[in-house]
Amino acid sequence: MEEREIGLALEMKRVSKRFPGTIAVDDVSFEVYAGEVHALVGENGAGKSTLMKMLAGSFDDYTGQICINGKEVKLHSPTQAKKYGIGMIYQELSLARPISIIENLLAGRLPRKGPLLDKARARSQAKGLLAHVGLDLDPELPIEDISQHEAQLVEIAKVLGNGPCILVMDEPTSALSREEVERLFQIIVQLKNRGIAVVYISHHLPEIFRIADRVTVMRDGKKIATKPIGEVTREEIVQMMVGRSVKEFYKRDERKIGETRLKVSGLSRFGFFHDVSFEARRGETLGICGLSGAGRSELAKVLAGLDRADEGRIELDGAEVRSGTMADALSRGIAYLTEDRKHEGLALRLTVGENIMAPIVDRLSSGSVFSKAKGAPLAAELIGELDIYPPDPERTVGNLSGGNQQKVLLAKWLASKPKVLILDEPTRGVDIGAKMTIHSSIEKLAREGCTVLLISSDLPELVGLSDRVMIMRKGHFTREMGFGECSEESLLLAANGALGAEGGA
Ligand SMILES: Nc1ncnc2c1ncn2[C@@H]1O[C@H](COP(=O)(O)OP(=O)(O)OP(=O)(O)O)[C@@H](O)[C@H]1O
Ligand SMILES: [Mg+2]
Repeated sequence: MEEREIGLALEMKRVSKRFPGTIAVDDVSFEVYAGEVHALVGENGAGKSTLMKMLAGSFDDYTGQICINGKEVKLHSPTQAKKYGIGMIYQELSLARPISIIENLLAGRLPRKGPLLDKARARSQAKGLLAHVGLDLDPELPIEDISQHEAQLVEIAKVLGNGPCILVMDEPTSALSREEVERLFQIIVQLKNRGIAVVYISHHLPEIFRIADRVTVMRDGKKIATKPIGEVTREEIVQMMVGRSVKEFYKRDERKIGETRLKVSGLSRFGFFHDVSFEARRGETLGICGLSGAGRSELAKVLAGLDRADEGRIELDGAEVRSGTMADALSRGIAYLTEDRKHEGLALRLTVGENIMAPIVDRLSSGSVFSKAKGAPLAAELIGELDIYPPDPERTVGNLSGGNQQKVLLAKWLASKPKVLILDEPTRGVDIGAKMTIHSSIEKLAREGCTVLLISSDLPELVGLSDRVMIMRKGHFTREMGFGECSEESLLLAANGALGAEGGA
């Protein structure tokens, strides 16, 4: 016993944290050894992020005891937490957007030459940190100019740069492609070998079985169990998470596919995607598969009116749609669920109800007067349909758990009753139950005649929901697969250019 305790990097003893109306973490004891990868799992809202934010010094009012390397500490501010060697990679990216990668990476420790910034050294240090996570970017670029997955890797590089002894990763792979996940796993193994304690939060159970030594399951703010990974099955973990058994498979309804709704011809946005043509019909779910950087999100943004096309034509029900603004696209019935819910998707300071109503304010207003009461039944219906927790339209969205914020984002676009709904990673960060709920909402929408364009890195999801999948690679549509041909494996090979007549690259 004595032997084992020497190796404990972290001990949280009977810790609790309340928010008004909720006990987010309820009398939890949690231990992590040095050199261990410890997975933390649970449904949306189970209290995982709150438990870890406690460790990162986000709250000055938690109760219970926290020991780091055997010594009791008080973690009442992020500065204190950092001093004790706690590194936290947040679920929602925390990088400052208008400033450069260098300034983000080296915040608080920019190298100086006398009173001045040592630019050359800063650049080479930044380059070194980026190389560590496999990124080759110009470190002078502002964060807002890089993609979501690159930003996620920059965030990881930044935290590693502080040399943590306990590293917490809250859904680090939700914005990453498979190769990037592999790269991250290699980094985690290196950290582990250096004796760093890693806490890994993920809804993706296969990842946990690959990388974790032990797993702790939380439910409703409480710890259910901690087990060595070799002693549990996936089914047992899910059962502990939800308190009942869940079947995870896709049940397909009969589809009724109608007339062509969206026709895209020769569409290009230079530097992002080129000469893309396809048609999508009413009631059809068209999957778009590709590696990160293949141009999928950029295509979605052009279709949604967020960015302009340089060439080509978009037709909706036979009439040309000129690339305009997002509001134009929305008024024609094209809605877009962004992959970046924090910056583009939600107004975090507004309530759940206000966010859901945002796209249809015009429809709910007479003259310039917005009638909240008119929207209330719809908001309540969507909160119910998507099982948003807590089921209260007056809650501030920023205070919801990550998965529940994602559900609000979807509710917002469902409320607009679109003709074409473009979904970019719709189930990022949601638990198994919520994923099934979201999938049935997508199916229902398609049944009602909506055309769904589904961009997802979750291959079972693409295979399960799509009628056809277009493969996008390096800015081009390279291949199409019908429902019967699609499998996780065939999609992965095609996305990597290893299938079909395209030739290797
Ligand atoms: N700032 C806050 N104010 C009020 N309630 C909060 C706040 N942060 C979290 N909560 C509540 O605490 C509970 C636990 O949330 P937490 O974010 O820890 O869940 P989680 O397990 O990380 O979920 P997810 O998988 O969705 O990210 C939830 O009921 C949530 O609504
Ligand atoms: Mg969370």
